[in-house]
Amino acid sequence: MTVIRGATTIGADQPEEIRNAVRELLEQIESRNQLKRDEILSIVFSSTSDIHSYYPAKAAREAGFASCSLFSAQEPEIDGSLALCIRVMLFVEKNISPHHVYLKGARVLRKDLTEKFNIAIDGPAGSGKSTIARLLAKDQKILYLDTGAMYRACALAALRAGINIDNEAGVCDLMRTVSLNVVYEDGIQHTFLNGEDVSDVIREPEISMAASTISKHESVRMKMAEKQREIAGKMSCVLDGRDIGTFVLPDADFKFFLTASPEVRAQRRYDELVAKGHRVDFETLKHDILARDEQDATRAIAPLKKADDAVLIDTSDMTIDQVLRTIKNKMQEKI
Ligand code: DC
Repeated sequence: MTVIRGATTIGADQPEEIRNAVRELLEQIESRNQLKRDEILSIVFSSTSDIHSYYPAKAAREAGFASCSLFSAQEPEIDGSLALCIRVMLFVEKNISPHHVYLKGARVLRKDLTEKFNIAIDGPAGSGKSTIARLLAKDQKILYLDTGAMYRACALAALRAGINIDNEAGVCDLMRTVSLNVVYEDGIQHTFLNGEDVSDVIREPEISMAASTISKHESVRMKMAEKQREIAGKMSCVLDGRDIGTFVLPDADFKFFLTASPEVRAQRRYDELVAKGHRVDFETLKHDILARDEQDATRAIAPLKKADDAVLIDTSDMTIDQVLRTIKNKMQEKI
């Protein structure tokens, strides 16, 4: 017999949250351990004392785990324990080396695993990095650091100051005088340039190429990478960019490289810009994206490149949910 453990957390004590969390946890345990349902003898849940609205055992039965014995217990209140947490033990009728599954921040319960972890997501423009990074960070209850926003803010500073962004010395002088800060409000990143929230302005299409050009300069890159390492050194986060897995955090715990066909990437950007009310020409946009990729991939310092140990995911024909699931499965495999 084998005992497999797992845990997950929920956002609020609501029946629907409990049902979904229990289903996801059990399905992940099943798939990670290649279990057949009739090999599960018993499932024992314990939940923290802030969970009252539904029995995890009932949720398991409803999720189709009906042929084994099920049991739920409530834990006493313990100072400093993880909030809204459901733990599980599965007793399985075969001898395997178990894959324990810890979802949604519950990984911190495993003291044998590092408590702080970083996820690097790199890839070209429009590959889906930022959407995925944001969702993944929310799912794992960790920070999302959009490193592109930092280069965009540098580019905005240079454009506003009337500095030629190709001129490294001029840009370098300017960088000494600007204050660039990344601040989080309700988990959302706000980028501040000299005290002004420029989070929206830096998304304007004309900033994209300027950000790519300014990011070629060593002085800019070093300054940005230092800031990014400082943030990632303090807390668990998902960072998306071009050089996270290769240069900024070569020791990141998990590394992914997302890509997609140029047509798909251009279409995604096109839809995004049109939704924001921009008038754009698809072919021009596609050309601009390819020119930016070329510039990002051929620069001398920390170019856009897949790290050797990054998992490559072509998102061209995948839904956001499929990409997210693939990433989470790969992370579980590594744990
Ligand atoms: O991810 P983005 O489109 O917001 O990035 C804008 C530009 O910034 C990108 O074309 C290259 C640069 N960049 C970089 O060189 N390294 C990063 N880690 C992130 C962005």
